[in-house]
Amino acid sequence: MTKLWGGRFQKTPEEWVDDFGASIEFDQQLAEEDLKGSLAHAQMLGKTGVLTEQETKLIISGLQTLQGKAKRGELAFSSKYEDIHLNLEKHLIDEIGPLGGKLHTGRSRNDQVATDMHLYLNKHVEDIISKTEALQKVLVTKAEEHVYTILPGYTHLQRAQPISFAHHLLAYFWMLERDKERLTESLKRIQVSPLGAGALAGTTFPLDRTYTAELLGFQSIYENSLDAVSDRDFILEFLNNSSLLMMHLSRFCEELILWCSQEFQFIELDDTYATGSSMMPQKKNPDMAELIRGKTGRVYGNLFSLLTVMKGLPLAYNKDLQEDKEGMFDTVKTVEGSLEIFAGMINTMKVNKDAMGQAVREDFSNATELADYLAKKGMPFREAHEVTGKLVFLCIQKGCYLKDLQLEEYVNASSLFEEDLYEAIDPFEAVAKRLSEGGTGFEMVKIALEKAKHRLEDV
Ligand code: ARG
Repeated sequence: MTKLWGGRFQKTPEEWVDDFGASIEFDQQLAEEDLKGSLAHAQMLGKTGVLTEQETKLIISGLQTLQGKAKRGELAFSSKYEDIHLNLEKHLIDEIGPLGGKLHTGRSRNDQVATDMHLYLNKHVEDIISKTEALQKVLVTKAEEHVYTILPGYTHLQRAQPISFAHHLLAYFWMLERDKERLTESLKRIQVSPLGAGALAGTTFPLDRTYTAELLGFQSIYENSLDAVSDRDFILEFLNNSSLLMMHLSRFCEELILWCSQEFQFIELDDTYATGSSMMPQKKNPDMAELIRGKTGRVYGNLFSLLTVMKGLPLAYNKDLQEDKEGMFDTVKTVEGSLEIFAGMINTMKVNKDAMGQAVREDFSNATELADYLAKKGMPFREAHEVTGKLVFLCIQKGCYLKDLQLEEYVNASSLFEEDLYEAIDPFEAVAKRLSEGGTGFEMVKIALEKAKHRLEDV
């Protein structure tokens, strides 16, 4: 079979060489973008007089027919034609005859494939932004229900100080807000058109690059043709932003997994987001949370594999660049799926307020309160810390908590203690009093909720 580029060749490659070099198996996902790019290119060739009006009309209607067939899944693709670009060109020629071969005037697969990927990411980054926002909404709704639900906050995974559960949920809201900001900011580098850069050096045809850029909804065009065809920063940036987003989801997954263990019992995941064991009948495993945590690894992997592909590439296009696609597709699928599953998981989980409340009542996360109590009565904080530490040690020896010690025992430790200490060490009060900006005090959390909702309305 003659290749679309076969003129210079005496022999055709072995079939397995064709198969090894072909990308159609995965780049057929770019069919919609490739046709869109071709339509803009054809329209521009007509406008600039490179194609006659009649030729332009025929090519455009041929491409539209292919669009319809692609939507209905009626286009067959073959590794004989290597990639999506040559497969579609072959289909166009089959559809309208040799005139189809004029579409590639002034264009190379190098600017074509880069254009496709800019279009593809533009669509999916916008989708990921809106899915991130949907998850933020779920977090805000859950947080609103749990302003007064208290649980231990941890450092070193040791109980540290009591906090509002809403405050904990909102921490993730702000992480996602930064993710959204980064993704939104990256759009200006995604919405740049490489089309018209040709293979690497531009072309001798009078192309109107700004016109095709406008038709495709791009904000600007690449200033340099070599950069246009060999830049993959926009994909790396996407993979990097996705890695950060997945890292946030993964940390949250880790908490959900801990919280639904028998040891914590802070939450129960809905049956629809958990699975059983084939052997142990009692099991209810948080598989979805574990999978999102696990899939974070592959997204990091995709970032590193493309960084590695790029590091030694001379200008301009090199076939190595074909390796940019699978990691990008895989990341889009992973991030979109993870965000959707995550929102459902949070939305349907049951929060065990009693277990959370009990955890803060039966521990020492109110010890800071006791030290602060003494400090407020004039004792230097360092000394207050020491006195409180000794009282905690006394409790551990006696097998009780701070609330269980007698006033007499307190007074023995420091004459500054009075009856009101019991109120001061109540964990609910401890949360309520943390009214510094950005703190967990209930009134602060309510303000934070308003701010979060305001952010969501802004978009
Ligand atoms: N399938 C190729 C890729 O994904 C398209 C560009 C091919 N260009 C070339 N000069 N061989 O990178």
